[in-house]
Amino acid sequence: MNIKHFQRMKQTGEKITLVTCYDYWSARIIAQSDIDCVLVGDSAAMVMHGQRTTIPATVELMATHTRAVAKGAPSKFIIADLPFLSYRKGLIQAMEAVEQLLQAGAQAIKLEGADGNEEIIRHCVKSGIPVMGHLGLTPQSVHQLGGFRVQGKEETAAKQLQAHALTLAECGCFAVVLEMIPGALAEHITAALPIPTIGIGAGAHTDGQILVLQDLLGMTTDIEPTFVKKYLEGAALIKEALNQYHQEVKQKVFPKQQHTYENAA
Ligand code: KIV
Repeated sequence: MNIKHFQRMKQTGEKITLVTCYDYWSARIIAQSDIDCVLVGDSAAMVMHGQRTTIPATVELMATHTRAVAKGAPSKFIIADLPFLSYRKGLIQAMEAVEQLLQAGAQAIKLEGADGNEEIIRHCVKSGIPVMGHLGLTPQSVHQLGGFRVQGKEETAAKQLQAHALTLAECGCFAVVLEMIPGALAEHITAALPIPTIGIGAGAHTDGQILVLQDLLGMTTDIEPTFVKKYLEGAALIKEALNQYHQEVKQKVFPKQQHTYENAA
């Protein structure tokens, strides 16, 4: 998979699948799956580090997670999130952040919003770095948005979202994530854009879908957004395995002979 495939899949109508990934061992499993593409999302701050928002994510943190994912899934196309403010402090600092993520193993970067990001997007693209946009609920702006809530419900907000999506395409983004917006709006943007849209909580008519890995595996037990489908009861299965191990040790059932080294003959 590369950015040419994204474009081709938009044209042929084949849906694009993405999941988030933050670590080596799950990257190894994803590498053996059919999933098209991996995002090292700044949601790592929340999912892996227990933060309440993505704001505490830093470039160093994102580079560390990207390095682990690139080691585990070298065959997958890896996109890494530029974290909070790392691309809003001027071109040089932004490019230093991009450099760290690419050197950690990302093949593309993602950033949130359109307004004020035109220069950095154009500069990355001219420098040979693919950029993915992100509109709708942009979690790095959670305080400005007044919480994690559906965006683009009112006509003015919907029009602004459409305009921002076109700006991102014009600046050279190869795809754009649409997060938590009404399905009809996502469908309209998808039809109007020359680049693929990747939805999360944006209905069925985007060019692809992304989910947080831990959400789709049923590992997250605190927040369960409406748009998530659990493909596994991961947390329950893991708890069951842990309790079984605990019981077997207590009852002296584990370890058995086959788990024990013999003396040399
Ligand atoms: O950080 C993340 O996980 C994301 C996805 C939800 C698109 O940006």
